[in-house]
Amino acid sequence: MIPVLTLDGPSGVGKGTVASIIAQTLDWHLLDSGAIYRAFAIAVRNRNIKINDIDGLLRLAGELDLRFELAPNQQSLKVYLDNVEVSTELRTEKTAELASRLAMIGRLRKSLLIKQQKFKRPPGLVADGRDMGTVVFSDAPFKVFLTAGVEERAKRRLKQLQETGIAGNISHTLAEVQKRDERDASRQHSPLRPAKDALVIDTTNLSINEVIIKVMALVKA
Ligand code: DC
Repeated sequence: MIPVLTLDGPSGVGKGTVASIIAQTLDWHLLDSGAIYRAFAIAVRNRNIKINDIDGLLRLAGELDLRFELAPNQQSLKVYLDNVEVSTELRTEKTAELASRLAMIGRLRKSLLIKQQKFKRPPGLVADGRDMGTVVFSDAPFKVFLTAGVEERAKRRLKQLQETGIAGNISHTLAEVQKRDERDASRQHSPLRPAKDALVIDTTNLSINEVIIKVMALVKA
């Protein structure tokens, strides 16, 4: 049995940072499922496919040429689409917004499911996203759902954007984060919500280190 740790939660909660540090600590593989939805969104935009052209979207999902390269320290993910690096474009709110709209389409989610499940390889996997614990790895032995107040998450997201060299301001980021969460949580297919057997951690007043200690305690137990 290959162990899987699922880390789900809303945007800006810090799950990407926590996931990469834990994957590095345990020496497990890492799946950033949001990066798959974001890269798909870039491909849709590049090819000018309309969001209501379901057949066109499914065809593209089938032939998506996507490659992830994880730096040896597992901290930075490079993403290549058709052999072109898209790592910076991937992190913009514009890309996230389109990814969130595309992620509402049930048939599309299904066609991206196997791509995500293929990341499960020995010795183990840390998977971050919205539906890792509820759908993609519903039988995972370790499930965590991170939450934090929306203002704190907007602050964290803005800091992350600025570190990537992307401009933004707090009120705009707050509005984007709020809108995206509402859409991700209220959609019909695989909505953002904790799995019944997930450990829910409110990280509003916790440092990254404190969150990591709690998650590691679950895996070690
Ligand atoms: O985690 P992220 O911000 O990179 O995700 C971008 C969008 O992709 C998110 O708003 C909704 C979608 N997504 C999803 O529906 N399911 C996932 N497992 C991961 C992301």
